Amino acid sequence: MVRRPRGPVVRRVVLLASTAVAVLAVVAVGLVGFGGRSSAVTTGAVVEDGSVVAVGSGSSGPDGGGSDGGSGDGGGDGVAQARIVGGEKTSTAAEPWVVYLTDSSGFQFCGGTLVAPTKVVTAAHCTASSPERKMFAVVGRDDKDSKAGTSVPIAKTWVSPTFSAVGNGLDVSVLTLEKPVDGPTLPLATAADSALYGAGTAARIYGWGATSENGTPSRYLLGATVPIRDDSYCKGSAASYDPELLTCAGFDSGGVDTCQGDSGGPLVAGGKLIGITSYGDGCARAGKPGYYTRVGANSALIQKQIAS
Ligand code: ARG
Repeated sequence: MVRRPRGPVVRRVVLLASTAVAVLAVVAVGLVGFGGRSSAVTTGAVVEDGSVVAVGSGSSGPDGGGSDGGSGDGGGDGVAQARIVGGEKTSTAAEPWVVYLTDSSGFQFCGGTLVAPTKVVTAAHCTASSPERKMFAVVGRDDKDSKAGTSVPIAKTWVSPTFSAVGNGLDVSVLTLEKPVDGPTLPLATAADSALYGAGTAARIYGWGATSENGTPSRYLLGATVPIRDDSYCKGSAASYDPELLTCAGFDSGGVDTCQGDSGGPLVAGGKLIGITSYGDGCARAGKPGYYTRVGANSALIQKQIAS
């Protein structure tokens, strides 16, 4: 469960000096809209006794009256109601670069991000096992049961040469579309964007994956906001955490996370692709953040493929 910054909680909020700096650094972090469209305006993370308990977001702020707008308050077990896990419906009109991948039967198995008219960034573990498999990127379709947007065949698959398994090597793959799609693309974070990886950055996650651990996939595109965590927190809950290759995000209490089927999809902050959904221990468990391929520090390698 994620506590929202309601009265008593807010009064007890303790902003540790170092955390306050990180929080201030992300106050301006928003999701930059395309074509003048602006979306969620991030207000930063709410930190209580050093624990991240909430992330402000213009689209899902704590203004929903009595009911908790975020994740399952009811169960109290940390596993949320039916959304990404703990998210809300969003649209490819607002986030036109969020795509999903299907096999030739139309089955959605991963997410991805349109980063150039013919290039989609996804996770290596989505494509590495059968790079020759016929795949499609579906662009502009919120509802998997609809025919909206386009389904474009993948002509070429590049898999990071260092990737060997999830949690081992850089989990990134770049797909080349058979024909270009027009519409806004999302820029990659670069090595100069290390501030976006600071603890407390409010980042957005997107996907059509499972809405609870072992749950069924979502029919609609869902999104949620999670706080980026520092390397020691990320390391604390993963056997092998390499800060050069990964970042992690999630609330102490869990409740909001990516899940099976969201892999390859975007982690977004400051209007840039900062991560790629890679893995987690279950989904949305307390103390178990989601792990995302770190794009910024590895952007040169990825960019080379995008330009190829
Ligand atoms: N590996 C999963 C996939 O293939 C993504 C899991 C993300 N899990 C998490 N708890 N954040 O879809």
